[in-house]
Amino acid sequence: MIFRQLFEPLSSTYTYLLGCDETGNALLIDPVITSVDRDLDEIKRLGLNLAYSIETHIHADHITAALELKKKTGSKIAAPAFDRRPCTDLGIEEDKHFRIGSITLQPLHTPGHTDGHFSYLCDDRVFTGDALLIEGCGRTDFQNGDADALFRSVKEKLFSLPDDCLVYPAHDYNHRRVSAIGQEKQRNPRLGNNRTLEDFREIMANLNLPYPTFIDYAVPGNRLCGVCPDNLPDNLQGYCRQMTNSPQG
Ligand SMILES: [Fe+2]
Repeated sequence: MIFRQLFEPLSSTYTYLLGCDETGNALLIDPVITSVDRDLDEIKRLGLNLAYSIETHIHADHITAALELKKKTGSKIAAPAFDRRPCTDLGIEEDKHFRIGSITLQPLHTPGHTDGHFSYLCDDRVFTGDALLIEGCGRTDFQNGDADALFRSVKEKLFSLPDDCLVYPAHDYNHRRVSAIGQEKQRNPRLGNNRTLEDFREIMANLNLPYPTFIDYAVPGNRLCGVCPDNLPDNLQGYCRQMTNSPQG
């Protein structure tokens, strides 16, 4: 399998490119709308054909590139069926394996950050979206978030994977790229070994995080598989347009 971990700096999002050596077909997990050209350049450079984009959940901090990619390449859109987005070509359901050439993803429903959140197990690695981050986890205070559900998703579903299984999250804000199930079981300060449900509830209830800057635009845009709103304030334009230096200086 051809594998690339791609980073979008404004929302600190990791997009994953998986390509089949045999068929040349590829998929992108959680592509970001401002990085479409970068992603397509990489796909072309590797001699791959984008067959699908696939979402872990409805994001609140960036807009998905799914629709733009579809317009540019004819790639199909896969996303959790739970969210009933009418723009998807394929609704992902638990344990219904998703195959692109020789690549198989096993979808795992991991609610808690959002109710429709999925992780994807692929051989020796799991793409955990915002359910499990490196020494952290996604917030649970919006989008039908539920700390109890996230605790169960991580402890029962993700932590039952082999310790050697690599953890590739949807974000990292400290330039870390990868962890492992065994490492998170030991080191995750919110969900690691000794943390109980009561601990986790208290931690998540006291994060005191600010209201997400982009959520009011991102969620409706992502319900449509990646549409930027017309009424975006100037200070949020960078979420929809790739900002480049003005040639006028
Ligand atoms: Fe998220």
